[in-house]
Amino acid sequence: MSTTIFAPQLKNESSGDSLQQQITVMIDDLMKRLPNPERLTSDERRGIIARYTAVLEANFIYWMTATYIAVQSAEARPIIIENLYEEVRDSHPVMLRRFAIAAHAFPTDTDALAVDVDLTKVRLFLGKLQGVQSLVTMAFFEGYIQRFMSYLAELAAAQGSVEMEYTDVHGVCDIAHSEGLFRACSLEMSLNPIKADSDLFEGVKLLRTLINSIVQGPASNS
Ligand SMILES: [Fe+2]
Repeated sequence: MSTTIFAPQLKNESSGDSLQQQITVMIDDLMKRLPNPERLTSDERRGIIARYTAVLEANFIYWMTATYIAVQSAEARPIIIENLYEEVRDSHPVMLRRFAIAAHAFPTDTDALAVDVDLTKVRLFLGKLQGVQSLVTMAFFEGYIQRFMSYLAELAAAQGSVEMEYTDVHGVCDIAHSEGLFRACSLEMSLNPIKADSDLFEGVKLLRTLINSIVQGPASNS
């Protein structure tokens, strides 16, 4: 226990809430920094949808799977499996591709390469298979996606699309996903605590940089 920072703090509910509160503050900050859709050009709106699709379509299930492999807590695994089950059964990548195509925002090579460096960093982070840090990262991501959906839908509508199944589904179901992942974080922390010199938010910070690249595009200086 003396070699850990966070496990002792998270043995009670209030500390678990505290982690969720910290993540919420980070998400609030990202939401405040989103550009006003009315001030974006059509090309800028298309770029955000395209880069989001380039990252999410091929990576979300991969990242959740990496998190499943990383966790040691037997109680945390069913929570992740429930997530993956829904992603695969309802084919969320199909939904997202349909959403992007309907908004005339299917990613090009330029879109994919604009996020390549920051995407690679997140992939390599998850490859380190650190159970707690991976879970915190995915809990942050689920929470962010849920909040981001109305903005993404607004961009697509401004592009003339009426195909909103992806944003409708994720604005609702990911609330449950996010809460389940925070519960899994607490379970994993007690069984597989992180080392004292580790950064609990290592993956969250990398993902936050990637989100900035999605929103800001090639001009991103994050
Ligand atoms: Fe999904």
